[in-house]
Amino acid sequence: MDLKNKNVIYVGGFGGIGFCSCKCLLEQGVANLGILDVFEDNEKIGTLQALNKAANVFYIKIDLTDVDNIEHAFTAAHDTMGRFDIVVNGSGIMNEHEIERTIKINLLGVIYSTFAALRLMDKSKGGHGGVIVNISSIVGLDAYGAYATYTASKYGVNGFTRALSDPYYYSQTDVSFITICPSTTETAMIASLRMDAVTTFDRMPPLPKLLCNNQSAEECAHSLVTAIKTAKNGSVWILTSGTLREYNYPDI
Ligand SMILES: NC(=O)c1ccc[n+]([C@@H]2O[C@H](COP(=O)([O-])OP(=O)(O)OC[C@H]3O[C@@H](n4cnc5c(N)ncnc54)[C@H](O)[C@@H]3O)[C@@H](O)[C@H]2O)c1
Repeated sequence: MDLKNKNVIYVGGFGGIGFCSCKCLLEQGVANLGILDVFEDNEKIGTLQALNKAANVFYIKIDLTDVDNIEHAFTAAHDTMGRFDIVVNGSGIMNEHEIERTIKINLLGVIYSTFAALRLMDKSKGGHGGVIVNISSIVGLDAYGAYATYTASKYGVNGFTRALSDPYYYSQTDVSFITICPSTTETAMIASLRMDAVTTFDRMPPLPKLLCNNQSAEECAHSLVTAIKTAKNGSVWILTSGTLREYNYPDI
């Protein structure tokens, strides 16, 4: 997909991966970029706007723990843009002591946000189709004991996103779904874990190999944007050490 003149919604666009991805999207010439996030950040909006003066960059508050607010945010964004071509669900938290909040933001938030976007994009309901990109994690593909609840939320995102990519729905909605699974990426989320790793138990098993392959937020963002441009409906992508590769689930 050529990103030039496309309309993009980025949920979590002020986060580490989100902000870098928004920069890349603007460099690709998107026309409208709506950032939906829980707190406003005018400095980041200014930085993004300066990258592409022709684009319309705007902020709308969304709190993924509040279903009504999610619906309201998507309706307001749609009123501003007219149509969505790409919606990225890129918010998330990692704190094993906040079990309900983790599931609410990482899984239920993604589910409700996806349905709110789909309602406005579905071709069979007057929309124009497009792509919905859900950010999971490498631990959405392979469990890691130190973050059991976070792992559960990300397995949920993978299952949910792949389920919606069923060709039966795609043929009616013209909305495709892709799942993004980054390995460890240097953002505030990881920095805060280094300060205080709030893990499943008070002991931490050794890191699996793939989680040792750190990458910068810029590298992750670059791979994410490449995936958006090239990925087919239902595909699942591993983003690690600045590389991008498709993951194929084994046949059962
Ligand atoms: N950093 C990593 O190593 C890594 C690895 C794999 C997957 N991920 C995933 O990538 C995504 C982005 O992570 P990041 O590392 O950039 O984290 P980050 O902490 O920098 O950003 C998280 C974003 O989520 C938003 N958010 C938090 N609570 C919210 C709420 N209630 N409603 C709406 N938005 C809310 C924050 O405002 C922020 O914009 C998350 O889904 C995360 O799970 C991160």
